[in-house]
Amino acid sequence: MMRRAKISVIGAGNIGGECARSIAMKELGDVVLLDIPSKDKPELHMPKGKALDLACCGPVENFDARITGTFDYKDIEGSDVVIVTAGVPRKPGQSRDDLVAINAGIVKNVAQNIKQYAPNAIVIVVSNPLDAMVYVMWKVTGFPAHRVLGQAGALDVARYKTFLAMELGCSVEDIQGLLLGGHGDDMVPLPRLTSVNGIPIQDLLPEAKIQACVDRAKVGGGEIVKLMGTSAWYAPSAGTIEMVEAIVRDKKRVIPCAAYCEDEFAVKASNDGKGLFVGVPCVLGAKGVEKIINFKMNDTEQKFMNESISHVKDLIGSTVKLFPELA
Ligand code: APR
Repeated sequence: MMRRAKISVIGAGNIGGECARSIAMKELGDVVLLDIPSKDKPELHMPKGKALDLACCGPVENFDARITGTFDYKDIEGSDVVIVTAGVPRKPGQSRDDLVAINAGIVKNVAQNIKQYAPNAIVIVVSNPLDAMVYVMWKVTGFPAHRVLGQAGALDVARYKTFLAMELGCSVEDIQGLLLGGHGDDMVPLPRLTSVNGIPIQDLLPEAKIQACVDRAKVGGGEIVKLMGTSAWYAPSAGTIEMVEAIVRDKKRVIPCAAYCEDEFAVKASNDGKGLFVGVPCVLGAKGVEKIINFKMNDTEQKFMNESISHVKDLIGSTVKLFPELA
């Protein structure tokens, strides 16, 4: 008999709720939704309410999954995977980096609890600014790097492919593409490695149109923040669940994730000889990040990658300024 996976979601807001729903719909495991009590309305129990609402989709959607809501970290004990979406999202005019002061403290607190209550879990961080928050998670938990990763590339590459498919008038299913780097406006989409079922994108679209899709992907998150007044949640959750599925089903999918790099993609050379977390192609399976696929970029790509790494480095610098113990 196979035990169902236990997947905890810390932060039961927009992304957390949608993650819980997708986990149940795909029957990836049982879900624990954890959040904090509302300061204004302490009589409410939002995660319990959301869990109950989601559980009642079961008979309609035909899924078997236990979904529970809690304020108590004890309930995440034995989790195989923990998804961290706790923190504030962006408002119009804010960059992801503007969230560091508030979210670093939140993620630090979440990490201490994961370390205590789910010491064997694989942790997927979604809170922004992503690359720095993964670093905080890794530092505080002390977990081996292959069990701490960040969701960014799965989303960013999905946006990139969506915009290309819109431009080409073809199915998103037939677009292959890769995007590396940090989860900021200097992320690195790679048109050289983008194709429609193997047909190079350069043979299908003029350079200016490809560049427009690249540029739109880079600021795709901001475009949605401007429209909605808060940040996106459907595609961020879809990206996260793609990673969870690869892990829980041991699929060995190759997905760009924020993973701990040293010599890969010349990370150390751009970061004073130190490793850091940045978006790179990873083989995801039951052990978490089972392998980072390192390949040689051309000079222009590496230049963009270096700029992105240097941005992540600055972001970690501002995080450490706030919390010197994380150095
Ligand atoms: N512990 C647990 N949960 C917390 C904590 C904490 N210390 N602090 C805040 N939260 C919860 C909030 O109560 C809220 O329910 O995190 C949830 C965040 O949900 P939303 O505000 O809806 O934000 P969401 O859109 O889901 O984004 C969450 O992911 O992509 C990033 O930039 C985004 O940092 C943001 C995060």
